[in-house]
Amino acid sequence: MDHDNLRSAQGEEEGDEAFGAEDRERTRHVPGVPSIGGPLRPHEFEGQVVFITGLARGQGRSHAYGFASLGADIAGIDRCDDLATVPYPLANDADLDGTAAMVRKLGRRAVVEVGDVRDRVRLAAVVERVMDELGRIDVVVANAGIFSVGAAETLSPESWAEVIDVNLGGVWNTVQACLPAMISGNRGGSIVMTSSIGGLRGLLQCAHYVASKHGVLGLVEALANELGSYGIRVNAVCPTNVNTPMIHNVANYATFRPDLSHPTSADMVEPAKDMHLLATPWIEPEDVTAAVTWLASRAARFVTGIALPIDAGATTKVVN
Ligand SMILES: NC(=O)c1ccc[n+]([C@@H]2O[C@H](COP(=O)([O-])OP(=O)(O)OC[C@H]3O[C@@H](n4cnc5c(N)ncnc54)[C@H](O)[C@@H]3O)[C@@H](O)[C@H]2O)c1
Repeated sequence: MDHDNLRSAQGEEEGDEAFGAEDRERTRHVPGVPSIGGPLRPHEFEGQVVFITGLARGQGRSHAYGFASLGADIAGIDRCDDLATVPYPLANDADLDGTAAMVRKLGRRAVVEVGDVRDRVRLAAVVERVMDELGRIDVVVANAGIFSVGAAETLSPESWAEVIDVNLGGVWNTVQACLPAMISGNRGGSIVMTSSIGGLRGLLQCAHYVASKHGVLGLVEALANELGSYGIRVNAVCPTNVNTPMIHNVANYATFRPDLSHPTSADMVEPAKDMHLLATPWIEPEDVTAAVTWLASRAARFVTGIALPIDAGATTKVVN
């Protein structure tokens, strides 16, 4: 049920003494806070621009598709090239073109570029193009990230640096590049950063990844405080295993099945299920998109500073 209807059905428009018409009016004028909360509408993000990093495939592509389905124009960057310390291929140019084509097929505009979130000059140039062509940035989804594995005693300094620079530095660079446009737009906005269950607890064989994702939640805490007065909300999603190339690679299978010399995806299923309260080894990108679009929507207009697990119960599970 739409909340407008719900409110009038309950007779609140006229008789709500505790939160009267004056208060409601004041709420309407908080920049970036849509006037009425409620469930997502079919055109929730009509007229808005969503800037997404790592949107060539996986969760980033799903977010682009999800926001465009709800009316948004899409902007963003993806590295579209492999990295030396990452044990699986990253996205490529064709993937990025595929995401842009999906968005355009939905009748929305797409301004996407190849770029690395560690490259502040590139980010600034892309944001400038976005502002020239689309005129605004309302939502930032800092999603680009990498994963690699290594025991604490042998993890290479290169792996440490690359993961921290991309997963934490890249999120910071993205937010800082987009902020001037968001603030000067004076419409508020929403920033959603992609952390992980590894931002909420430890994981084995990836201290650098866990540190980077905890760092992202530190940014959420700091920036939610700093940006609230602009009506800019800052939140994170913390997914468990997501069905993308990041988990479907031999290096990751080996962390689940160190007992096997050539572990496969099928070998990962049972131990991955064991992580969860709900019977699944992993979730789908669209499960995360549902949370990200909700966090960015008017339905979450007073939600800021949170780390939302989408984890099939992984962080709650009691291990005997
Ligand atoms: N897959 C999982 O199990 C899982 C779980 C929790 C959190 N995450 C996080 O979700 C986010 C998205 O990952 P995914 O699962 O879609 O994996 P993915 O590898 O399919 O997608 C990541 C995307 O980011 C891009 N990218 C990587 N480094 C980049 C850089 N330096 N600059 C710009 N783009 C870059 C890649 O090319 C790729 O398109 C990441 O931050 C990841 O850490 C993933």
